[in-house]
Order: sequence, then C-alpha cells, then structure tokens
Amino acid sequence: MKQRSSCGILRPCLAFIVIFSSSAVLRSQDNGLAPKPPMGWNSWYGNICQVSDALIRAQADAMVQNGMRALGYEYVNIDDCWQGERDAQGMIHGDKNFPDMKALADYVHSKGLKFGLYSSPGPTTCGRREGSYGHEERDAQTYAAWGVDFLKYDWCSAGQVYKPEEMQAAYKKMGDALKRTGRPILYSLCQYGLQKVWTWAPSVGGNMWRTAGDLDYDYDRVSLVGFQQDGLERFAGPGHWNDPDMLLVGLKKFNEDENRTQMSLWCLLAAPLVASADLTTVSPASLAIMTNPEVIAVDQDAAGIQGHRVSEEGPLEVWVKPLADGSKAVGLFNRGEGANPVIVNLKDVGVKKTATVRDLWAAKNLGTFQGSFTAHVPKHGVVVVKIK
Ligand code: GLA
Repeated sequence: MKQRSSCGILRPCLAFIVIFSSSAVLRSQDNGLAPKPPMGWNSWYGNICQVSDALIRAQADAMVQNGMRALGYEYVNIDDCWQGERDAQGMIHGDKNFPDMKALADYVHSKGLKFGLYSSPGPTTCGRREGSYGHEERDAQTYAAWGVDFLKYDWCSAGQVYKPEEMQAAYKKMGDALKRTGRPILYSLCQYGLQKVWTWAPSVGGNMWRTAGDLDYDYDRVSLVGFQQDGLERFAGPGHWNDPDMLLVGLKKFNEDENRTQMSLWCLLAAPLVASADLTTVSPASLAIMTNPEVIAVDQDAAGIQGHRVSEEGPLEVWVKPLADGSKAVGLFNRGEGANPVIVNLKDVGVKKTATVRDLWAAKNLGTFQGSFTAHVPKHGVVVVKIK
C-alpha cells in the first residue's frame, strides 16, 4: 500500500495539529459555539424551495420523536427561499409561507432544539430571494430578535457587488454584525471553498465553512469531495470545522452501503452532521444510519481531531481519526466497483502491534489482532472499527 508520508511519525504530527488548532481558535472567532461538530437538519436537498412554517415544525417534531435529538441533532435550519419583502424601514420579513418567524423559532426552541436561517452577502440568494447586501446590521438584529441560533451565509450573487479580494471583508461584516447582537449565533460560511476559506474563516467569526461546491444528489460527487478532504485536518478543531456539505443519507438516491460510506467518512472527518432528508418520511434504514450512536460518537469525540487518510491502494482507502481516550477510529473504504479485502497495518494508525478491534456498525467486538486487521468490504462500502 502507498503510505502517507507527512504523518508517518504520528505523535509529533498530532501534537502539532493540537497546538495549531488551539492557537487558531484564540486568534479567531470567540463566540464559544460549536465545541463539537454541529449536528442538525437543513431543508435544502430534501425540500428545495418547498419550505413553510408547517414543514419546519413537522421536522422539529420528527427530530424529537425519531430519537435524533437525543443523539445530539440540534439545529433545525431553513435554507433558501424563506425570504419575503423588506418593509419601508428595511426590515426583512418571511414570505407568505412564514407569517411569523419569531413564533416559529419559539416553537423550535420549545422542543429543546435550535433554529437556523440562511442569507447571502449579495443582493440576492442563489434562489433569487432577498439577500443581506447593505442590510447586514439590520438583518443580524432581526435574526437575533426572532431567536435565530445559526446563520448559513451563502456567497451566491455577492460576486456582482464585491471583488474577489473583498470576500473576507464581506463575510467579516456579517460576522461582526452577529457578534454585536449579543446573541450566540453559530456562523456557517458557504462559498464553496473559494480562496482557501479554511485559512481565514475563523478570523471572520466562522464556526464552520463549506470546503467545496454542492454535493447535489450524486454519489460520485460525495465520494470525490469526501475523499478530497485529506490535508484539511489541521484547520479544524473545537469551534471551527470544515464542512464538506450535508448528509444525503435518506434521499433515496444511494444504496445502504453508499449511505454508510458518507456517514462514516463525515464522522471520521469530524464534519458537521446536517441531515437533509425529509425526516417525516425518511426510511427506518436511513434513520438507523444517521442515528448509530457509536458512529456518531466518532464525529463528536471530545478531542475534536479531524481524521486523515493513512493509505490508499487504487480504490481502497484507510482513514484514521485519533480519539480522546487514546484509541483510533479507522475507516476501511472500498470506492471500487466490486467487493475487496481492505487491510490496515496497525502501526500505520499508531496503535501497538497487538490491538483489540471493535466493529462500530455491527456493534461487535472482533477480538485481538497482531500486526494488521483485514475486513471484506462491499462495493462503495465501508467497515469502521475502533482500535486500541
Ligand atoms: C447554494 C448552496 C446550497 C444551497 C443553495 C440554496 O447552492 O451551496 O447549499 O444553500 O445555494 O439556493
């Protein structure tokens, strides 16, 4: 297998990541939010512009009833297409489907959940609704008055009014406006990974930032974007996370192995877990994938270390995420078109020659292994183990 050289001597490499990450936090956003990768739901992929007050309430209800809330899913976020007109004072209002945004936020809060909205630094959103350009301060105040806890801020039309080199300032403008409200509002940047956003997003107040364009509904794209995240691990940590886009689990586009691959990879990446399927109709099988407690625990691990690739042989990849208790979460992925054995050399993932292995999806202890561990992995599938 081809070995990754930069992290070959694992301990010094990890020490560097931890020091780098914590100093980045001190220098940057200080809103105290997102100590772990944010978890929640977003309306976009499942409902596009078919959003309404009733739909959002139903998602909040479902998140409580189906056990997602108990497992840490927390934010209920309206994506594009909620915006109506501005009034004479410049205040934004919801459209006819959102007659009372404050009442909706109150409802979401009454369920023990948090409420998120979406806007753009440009004059219009990607869905051609009203953006925040020229109204940043006012909009931030309005969101705070409504009880908003999360803002996704999507570049969209902003290129029409800002030069590329003004992008950071455009994001800082809203980041500062949100801070001035005094309400803790998680700030989520969406500009598709332009201008190495991971190097500056925390300094404009960002708690998470998209690292690539939309996944759309395409498994090949999920695979491409997800497995491209290697190398970004040093920019993530408590309070500031790389976001390779939402979970497409449950949208009925992928088979169960593909769904498990996205969920596993996102958890190894310490990525935000934002479900996008309609939770009122999601299948029990997809729900089980999004609510596997042992896999979620990998994502939410207290150390907040984003995993990375340790080996790659054609379509077979091994990824590791160091965990707070000293053990390693390891993903054995098969991106190929046929079943294949995938081998992990224990020394490559920084564990002793003899190690105990637990299969997290199967919730089963597999025993003690010496030197290496091999799993038979189906096409587009994955086996995730905890090794110590
Ligand atoms: C962009 C974003 C998506 C979604 C849509 C809404 O494409 O990347 O996540 O918010 O806009 O129009």
